[in-house]
Amino acid sequence: MKRLLFLFQYIGKPRTVGSILPSSRFLGDKMMEGIDFKKAKYIIEYGPGTGVFTKKLLEKRSPETIILLVEQNKEFYSLLKEKFKDERNLFIVYGSAENIIEHVREYGVPYIDYVISGLPFASLPKSVSTKILLESSKILKKDGEFITFQYTMYKKKFIKQFFTKIDVKRELRNVPPAYVFSCSMSQNSREESYGV
Ligand SMILES: C[S@@+](CC[C@H](N)C(=O)[O-])C[C@H]1O[C@@H](n2cnc3c(N)ncnc32)[C@H](O)[C@@H]1O
Repeated sequence: MKRLLFLFQYIGKPRTVGSILPSSRFLGDKMMEGIDFKKAKYIIEYGPGTGVFTKKLLEKRSPETIILLVEQNKEFYSLLKEKFKDERNLFIVYGSAENIIEHVREYGVPYIDYVISGLPFASLPKSVSTKILLESSKILKKDGEFITFQYTMYKKKFIKQFFTKIDVKRELRNVPPAYVFSCSMSQNSREESYGV
């Protein structure tokens, strides 16, 4: 059922949905691998779609960790609201990751430990990707990470402009196989992070 919804959303909005299928649980596990769940207080997820990564985040987080989802597709947003209606410390925004600074302010989130991104940077307009990556790099904690997956290495150079380091892992058990990019800033490359 979720797969069918995904396919229909892709047919209607191919550039923003970016894939005909939701990600696999294997890719979900790989996206979670680098997260220190004991330390993380604030986690943001961009483009959760039907919630494959969200489910993993909720299973692994400490109960006090705040998770903020930002989804700009109305159908996915409604599905997520219903699916996760009983979760505490989970906030779901119907909006664009381009406006992340406004969203974190609205929810009183003072900084971000991790951004988990499902956004299809390969097909989003360059101006949109630029705004999202720039704003995200501003609000991430000094030792925070921006974790995203891509189906090719094509956008690595573009994404690297906003960070100083990208570690790449591969997950073959996804359709199609995917790369996980863990993007971070070296400690001395920035002055201070965002504060509300
Ligand atoms: C490739 S799908 C990934 C869905 C899910 N994370 C997964 O891996 O199965 C991309 C998702 O990003 C969402 N999206 C695209 N542009 C967005 C934006 N500017 N802000 C928030 N979500 C966006 C789409 O609606 C879609 O849910």
